Amino acid sequence: MSTSSESSRIVKYAISGAAIAVAAGAYVAVYFRQSSRFRRHVIGIIPARFASSRFPGKPLAPILGKPMIQRTWERAKLATTLDQLVVATDDKKIAECCQGFGADVIMTSESCRNGTERCSEALQKLQKKYDIVVNIQGDEPLIEPEIIDGVVKAAPDAVFSTAVTALKPDDVDDPNRVKCVVDNRGYALYFSRGLIPYNKSGQVNPRFPYLLHLGIQSYDAKFLKTYAELSSTPLQLEEDLEQLKVLENGYKMKVIKVDHQAHGVDTAEDVAKIEAYMRQRNLS
Ligand SMILES: *[C@@H]1O[C@H](CO)[C@@H](O)[C@H](O)[C@H]1NC(C)=O
Ligand SMILES: *[C@@H]1O[C@H](CO)[C@@H](O)[C@H](O)[C@H]1NC(C)=O
Repeated sequence: MSTSSESSRIVKYAISGAAIAVAAGAYVAVYFRQSSRFRRHVIGIIPARFASSRFPGKPLAPILGKPMIQRTWERAKLATTLDQLVVATDDKKIAECCQGFGADVIMTSESCRNGTERCSEALQKLQKKYDIVVNIQGDEPLIEPEIIDGVVKAAPDAVFSTAVTALKPDDVDDPNRVKCVVDNRGYALYFSRGLIPYNKSGQVNPRFPYLLHLGIQSYDAKFLKTYAELSSTPLQLEEDLEQLKVLENGYKMKVIKVDHQAHGVDTAEDVAKIEAYMRQRNLS
């Protein structure tokens, strides 16, 4: 159900959210420059595994002729807050492809159960020490570099920071699109595959600014180790959402709102959708 007034409201909401994030970002950027003595070292990690139950070989899937992982990497390269960017993978084909377009690659073990574990292992294998780790999931190949910079700049506020954007009316019922609710200081209250909040009418409220979680998060490097080692929690297991473990253990998670036309690629069908979107806008 989508009317033009409802989508324009969502867009307006997203823009004001983005403006707040940009204003906050500018403040933090000044702070970062002034305290260069304490400058923190930031690494971006793109975890990529070949085996995926829903979409095997997903990172190598061509999107308008270019592998999805390359698109993600090229976007991430444009972020100004990253001191280093690496792809972490357990797969030789992915490693060779990434080295082919110039990426630094770290081999991680096949036993990593999820992206966080893969980032944690990659971090331990690096010679250099980093203070902040940004986990850039390869399934958002059109991620804007400004969003990466935004979560890095929010990092002083919490051990974990991530981003959301306006949920499109079409994605309300899609369990692959994760919804989020935040408190009035921008900290996450909950994430769900179902629509939150729930309106007592049982209908989607066209006036409510529902939020979609994006596949990007940054962690304090010490916290990343803790995070990967925290045992599973009931809500995390029920929703199959790793980040819930953080909230269930009582940690704060900072959420920035950004304006982003999300095109998460979860299935082979999503590739056709993103290609159609790019063609419409003459993106190559
Ligand atoms: C539920 O949604 C309707 C519109 O569909 C809205 O008017 C109402 O304020 C919302 N909240 C409650 C508590 O009904
Ligand atoms: C990810 O791996 C960690 C172990 O390092 C585990 O505690 C956590 O529950 C895993 N998350 C999911 C969603 O499987």
